[in-house]
Amino acid sequence: MAGLIPQSFIDNLLNRTDIVDVVDKRVPLKKQGNNYTACCPFHQEKTPSFSVNQERQFYYCFGCGAGGNAIGFVMNFDKSDFPVAVETLAKDAGLEVPREESQRQIKQNRQHMSLYDVLSSASAFYQLQLRKHPLKETPVQYLKSRGLTGNVAASFAIGFAPPGWDNLLKEFGTSIESQKLLLGAGLTIERSKDKPSKKAQNRIPEYDYYDRFRNRIIFPIRDSRGRTIALGGRVLGEEKPKYLNSPETAVFQKSSELYGLYELKKSGDKFSKIVLVEGYMDVIALSQMGIKNSVATLGTATNSRHLSKIFKQVPELIFCFDGDDAGEKAAWRALEAALPHMQDGRQVKFLFLPSGEDPDTYVRTIGKKQFLMEVSSAKPLEDFLFEHLSADLDTTTGEGKARLSDLAKTHLSKIPDGIYSRLMLEKLSDLVGLPAESIAKLYSKSASSHPNENITSDGNFSSTSEAGDFLKAGIQSKREDNFYQKPASIKAIELLLQKPEIALSLTKDLEVLHSAEDEGRKLLISLIEMIQKDPKTDIFTMLGYCYGSNLGNQFIQIFGDEKITPKDGLQGEFIQIIDNILSDMRRKLDLVKLRNKLRAKVIEEK
Ligand code: UTP
Ligand code: MN
Repeated sequence: MAGLIPQSFIDNLLNRTDIVDVVDKRVPLKKQGNNYTACCPFHQEKTPSFSVNQERQFYYCFGCGAGGNAIGFVMNFDKSDFPVAVETLAKDAGLEVPREESQRQIKQNRQHMSLYDVLSSASAFYQLQLRKHPLKETPVQYLKSRGLTGNVAASFAIGFAPPGWDNLLKEFGTSIESQKLLLGAGLTIERSKDKPSKKAQNRIPEYDYYDRFRNRIIFPIRDSRGRTIALGGRVLGEEKPKYLNSPETAVFQKSSELYGLYELKKSGDKFSKIVLVEGYMDVIALSQMGIKNSVATLGTATNSRHLSKIFKQVPELIFCFDGDDAGEKAAWRALEAALPHMQDGRQVKFLFLPSGEDPDTYVRTIGKKQFLMEVSSAKPLEDFLFEHLSADLDTTTGEGKARLSDLAKTHLSKIPDGIYSRLMLEKLSDLVGLPAESIAKLYSKSASSHPNENITSDGNFSSTSEAGDFLKAGIQSKREDNFYQKPASIKAIELLLQKPEIALSLTKDLEVLHSAEDEGRKLLISLIEMIQKDPKTDIFTMLGYCYGSNLGNQFIQIFGDEKITPKDGLQGEFIQIIDNILSDMRRKLDLVKLRNKLRAKVIEEK
């Protein structure tokens, strides 16, 4: 199958795909230096050794050796074969794979695509009803009464699901196929056969299904690329439930999405902050008032995936909560989720609204300007953290201070190392009247007796150097003897992969290596030159370079399978191996010359 997809298409696809997005969608990533890290999805681990390099478009796990490009990742993660992985990525990139497909694949592909299709058609249908339906006056009046203009309604694609049990069913046709489609997309509900409610039975005589959304305002939920992935529906009055959402489907995971993110991106403005609110109507009202940088979770608590998505867009996040007890509780949970994301340069604040208000009502009361001022002067995470922790403590007593340091410890240790975490320590040091150094020391002492305490709740590192340490530790403990039985060039490359800078220690002329015909030697000279040209070349760059070639794949294997050599004397050994290769090459070259000379002589003599 693979052969049927032209290489040029695969190149094009990889160009248009960002492996960071591809991985992040499946395994939330955390930025760490030049790479993104996470706990490896391919083996069990508590400490992240899985890394994605954006520049090289390559992932690699130091723990299990899994590695490759975006296609390889999708194959591994989705447990799909090559053509299906290409198909998946192509779909995300909006490309069509130019080849003959198998029947099975066509079917699978169609099923997936058809979910988006049917959802967007349903959304369009409901939008149309808001303009055309005989009963449209009620929803139109309702939206007006909530202060919305037609423009904002249109930009959020708001619609109206008319009363009735089979509007959508009729619209999509009565074929079994379309009924199945609607059901799969969560737009209809299967009529219970064993306990048929009389009411339902009377109203839907001809179908096994009935419309999920009836007599509701429809809010389409779109992914950040604008594809409709679910619908939310609000009653027009006081009935319950107030909001009804699509169930989870193959394309909709409620707790991963942010309502309004697509609209925010679509606005084309460059924002430096995002206001995170709780309701659909909050996002829409803020937008109506000219504040276009808000998003909402879909009735779930804020989690790490939400935060990753937000921090991909902006460095500053303002949580908006009710000022009551429930609001403070939710805010505290949000703070706990946010700590591991507090890399330097990021900011998180909390805006507590007066009791009984939500952003929708509040912005309409105080106006855009005042609202924005309150956003700017919202409570920084650090203030909220210490206020909350010391709420029931008397921090003027020694005991209260000790308790505060103890309480703060677990939270501060979730913050990635950096200036921000340092500032937090200093803030604590001010509060308890102990030098920051002593607190840090106390913390590190207890941390070393509980090595896992540095791991954040979502399993990420709290320190930037641990990936490096892990790698070192891994290599040092994974010595393997057959290293000495390998071809010299392979040994040399393995050493380079461990310590790229040893390439800089070579002083001899390497010219002769260019005439190498052996794959290992060719790769070796390329890598050496790569490092010599850019001494910052790292292992990812090298593995990325190797990836795809036979030998490269072998290295990825090798690297994961452990091996590798003595920790000391790496450079000396490397130089020795290169010297051997060089003399071998020269000897061979001399031999060739000699042979040519002899041959010439023989011919001459003839
Ligand atoms: P709210 O009740 O605060 O929403 O619920 P809201 O946007 O302020 O609603 P109105 O229209 O102004 O009265 C916050 C979010 O919780 C979810 C929805 O995502 C809603 O936007 N929710 C709420 C539900 O899923 N179901 C419900 O019945 C209520
Ligand atoms: Mn509201």
